[in-house]
Amino acid sequence: MNITIFESNEALDRQAAELIARTITERPDAVLGLATGSTPIGVYRALISLSAEQRLSFADVTTYNLDEYVGLPPAHDQSYAYYMKQHLFDHIDIPLAQTHLPDGMAQDLAAECVRYDQMLENQPIDLQLLGVGHNGHIGFNEPAGQLVGGTHLAELEPATRAANARFFEREELVPQQAITMGVASILKAKHILLVARGADKAEIIQQALCGPITTAIPASLLQLHANVTVLLDKDAGKDLMQHDSSLHLVHS
Ligand code: F6R
Repeated sequence: MNITIFESNEALDRQAAELIARTITERPDAVLGLATGSTPIGVYRALISLSAEQRLSFADVTTYNLDEYVGLPPAHDQSYAYYMKQHLFDHIDIPLAQTHLPDGMAQDLAAECVRYDQMLENQPIDLQLLGVGHNGHIGFNEPAGQLVGGTHLAELEPATRAANARFFEREELVPQQAITMGVASILKAKHILLVARGADKAEIIQQALCGPITTAIPASLLQLHANVTVLLDKDAGKDLMQHDSSLHLVHS
């Protein structure tokens, strides 16, 4: 695992954007796995500026998002489809037909999960961007005795709904379910880029990256992957730095 801890969020975002840009430069038809939530917003902003500076084209890139709420149409301002357009797709030259999210409005949600997995099978992900929940979830793979490998319907934990309530008018409006890629789908990506920021993520980052590999902390399964890059701000990295004295802050 390659871990870097940044003094500033700007430097973190820039580094994440550079990694994504490099993936596209090396392979213009790269397949990117994308995430939503508050963590990637700065990364997408940096990627938009970087691609303008470097005249990077997304014309042949394909994207797959980790997850989508069940019951929110793409035009709903809290759907992940809406988020992706707002924070990335509307600002780059990617054809929308090459962008994919699970369809949380599908009549047959089980069939939708199979369809999504089939597409992922046909187009393996080159680089998967991930955030992490306070409870260690990745995508909506919540802590549990057993985890599901493929794309599936997930019941959201009360803590996750409470954390996401900040984006909704009231907590009751946060959907109860989501479709999410499973842990096996995530681990199939050739390269995983995990980003976390904020002191509230410090403990879970330390547990996930240095503690036992356990389904009780789904992000700990990332320890099984051979090519993971972790980018943290100084607050999210503070417990790790205490644990591992070889880790230092990067100042620029
Ligand atoms: C979002 C996702 C979630 C988030 C996680 C962290 O697509 O899959 O796992 O990455 O909930 O959310 P933030 O970034 O809002 O702290």
